[in-house]
Amino acid sequence: MTSLQGKRILLGVSGSIAAYKSAVLLRLLMKAGCEVRVIMTPSARDFVSPLTFSTLSRQPVATDVHNDEGWTNHVEWGLWADAMIIAPATAHTLARCALGLASDMLTATYLSARCPVFFAPAMDLDMWHHPATKSNISKLQSYGNFILDVGEGELASGLIGPGRLAEPEEIRDYLADFFRIQQDFLGVRVLINAGPTYEALDPVRYIGNHSTGKMGVAIADEIAKRGGDVTLVLGPESVLPENDRIHVQHVTSADEMLEKCQDAFAEAQVTILAAAVADYKPASISGEKIKKGDGPMNLQLVRTPDIAETLGQQKKPNQILVGFALETTKLHENAKDKMNRKQLDMIVLNNPKEAGAGFGHDTNKVSFLFPNNKAQEFELKTKKQVAFDIAEAIHKLLKDNA
Ligand code: C5P
Repeated sequence: MTSLQGKRILLGVSGSIAAYKSAVLLRLLMKAGCEVRVIMTPSARDFVSPLTFSTLSRQPVATDVHNDEGWTNHVEWGLWADAMIIAPATAHTLARCALGLASDMLTATYLSARCPVFFAPAMDLDMWHHPATKSNISKLQSYGNFILDVGEGELASGLIGPGRLAEPEEIRDYLADFFRIQQDFLGVRVLINAGPTYEALDPVRYIGNHSTGKMGVAIADEIAKRGGDVTLVLGPESVLPENDRIHVQHVTSADEMLEKCQDAFAEAQVTILAAAVADYKPASISGEKIKKGDGPMNLQLVRTPDIAETLGQQKKPNQILVGFALETTKLHENAKDKMNRKQLDMIVLNNPKEAGAGFGHDTNKVSFLFPNNKAQEFELKTKKQVAFDIAEAIHKLLKDNA
């Protein structure tokens, strides 16, 4: 069963030569188990007959808000849908939607729709490159709509370049992915740790590090968005997650972080250890503020618990454990060694020497390594995009484990 099974889709067709491809898209959506209603702009009827769409969808096709036979309720149509896809979306239809002009059934329904709306543009390359089109697209994106990429190649005008409607299969897969990632962690318990730990020296001082928790918090938000039941054990002074369904446990030291992680670990199907846990803590904490003297001062430090290693030893076969490695030399070799020692199912390697990667940045450049020696390398991305890639990789591990 695909994620499109049972979904109600509004397919908006506007007047482009590519409108014939919408019939193929309609067939693919019907085959995937969707219920589809088609709305055509008046000019789309010059390219394909409404009869084609009504036959394939087994539903009447709407073009006008009202005609001699009566009034079509665009509000009801807009509320009915789980998603609206406008394919092809001409420059004119993009502009009307960006401006909020409700001049026909398609645009009136677009304004009434509460569901996610997707636009698959199709036009000639100069229209595609025009600043007016670019600005309309940015506007539509700023309203939360999704814009699919156009294809490149020979266009109806004979010119060659970008502007082709995405292939029907690509549009179907885009929609299927959209619905899949809305629910692919549904019912999955996920434990994540993030941020630094502070190891107290005395009542006012500590040993800490520059971690902000951004990476781990982005992962927590991404997985919660996809339906996961997330517990986030968060070190001090970290950023906070956006999703208020995440159970946040605030901790300060490595010992506290281990304790809170232990509490949630047995029930967690997936554990992601993104925290920059201090490796050492003061051998003892002074009850009073340590006074300065004239000479140098020596601190005696002892090891903190290794949370990943401890949990790795307790891991059951159906649990997935993911760790991070921040390496500056022999990157893959050291990360692999860590993955084996801590019994991880995946390690996210980042190199802080890369520009824009590591602590405090909003971007990161990572590789994923797996025990079967598979590896995935990624470009520099925002931490939110990296969180998406991590969620995708873990979703695959969950599927393989099922
Ligand atoms: O050994 P290293 O600190 O480089 O390993 C990094 C991985 O181990 C990270 O996933 C980190 O969260 C985890 N770790 C831990 N407890 C420590 C040190 C690191 O869980 N004391």
